[in-house]
Amino acid sequence: MRFPEILAAAFIACVPAAHAGADAVRADIAARLAAAHPGVAPADYALGAAAFDAERRAQLEANTPAPEAAGILAEGKRLWTRKFRNGRSLAQCFPNGGRRIAAAYPQLDLKAKRVVTLETAVNQCLRTHGEPILETGDAAAMGAILAYVRSLAEGQKIAVRIASPLAEERFEQGRRLYYTRMGQQNYACASCHVQNAGRHFGDVALPAAPGAASRWPFVREGRAVSLQAQVRECLERMGAAPFPAGSDELAQFDYFLSALATGQTIRPNAWRPR
Ligand code: HEC
Repeated sequence: MRFPEILAAAFIACVPAAHAGADAVRADIAARLAAAHPGVAPADYALGAAAFDAERRAQLEANTPAPEAAGILAEGKRLWTRKFRNGRSLAQCFPNGGRRIAAAYPQLDLKAKRVVTLETAVNQCLRTHGEPILETGDAAAMGAILAYVRSLAEGQKIAVRIASPLAEERFEQGRRLYYTRMGQQNYACASCHVQNAGRHFGDVALPAAPGAASRWPFVREGRAVSLQAQVRECLERMGAAPFPAGSDELAQFDYFLSALATGQTIRPNAWRPR
């Protein structure tokens, strides 16, 4: 059965459960996926559609590393180490020049009670040093920087732990967004990426939610597509007006998906087709 045919049934299952805490949410999603796809190892969810589609997997392997990734990384490194007018640089704003930091993002700013994404942290550094901030959704500059700084965490395990009441609250906000039907198609993210993960939507197998935060930015047609940019693309697919780049809502999606992916390995700059 293909995805649109089972839509009605999916929506019944898609009603958000009463808030049960991050661990229970993660366990519930993991159990559903394991039951639906016993042959797919959870570590493979990070392959996106390729986890469920042998042909796509062969294409992915043939495009690993992504052909355009080297150019994006070189540009990202240039921007990361570029001297500001005051002689400082992005690299100097972060511990170890930014090595192995990406695994712990998004973080919580306990004072401001806000989710701080990697994009926000980059712009905070620029602002502190009197430099113009970057468009969060700009693939050429911000995308390249994300590609580079995430490459400095290659092989690390994502570690966005939900271990405080504030963290639970922000996780729950992200979860609620993820399970809310939006847009003309009346889909929730979860309709595709939890309830129907691994089924075909058109020609594409639907990626599973717990893998989403591992491989980004994705390299699609030579561009670095951040997690937030990917979420905006899916909102358009849903016929919903995408939340603006840099919005709190996109930060909440990022936080929720990164917490779900905790324990997955960071392997950024993965090829994805148009
Ligand atoms: C109608 C089905 C559908 C809905 C609803 C949907 N997506 Fe997607 N999503 C897709 C498809 C199709 C892809 C691309 C698969 C491909 O070609 O690689 C995708 C890809 C993704 C990816 C990249 C996964 C990877 O590793 O390649 C992320 C992250 C993602 N979606 C998040 C979301 C979020 C967040 C929402 C809700 C705002 C959402 N999606 C809603 C169908 C959907």
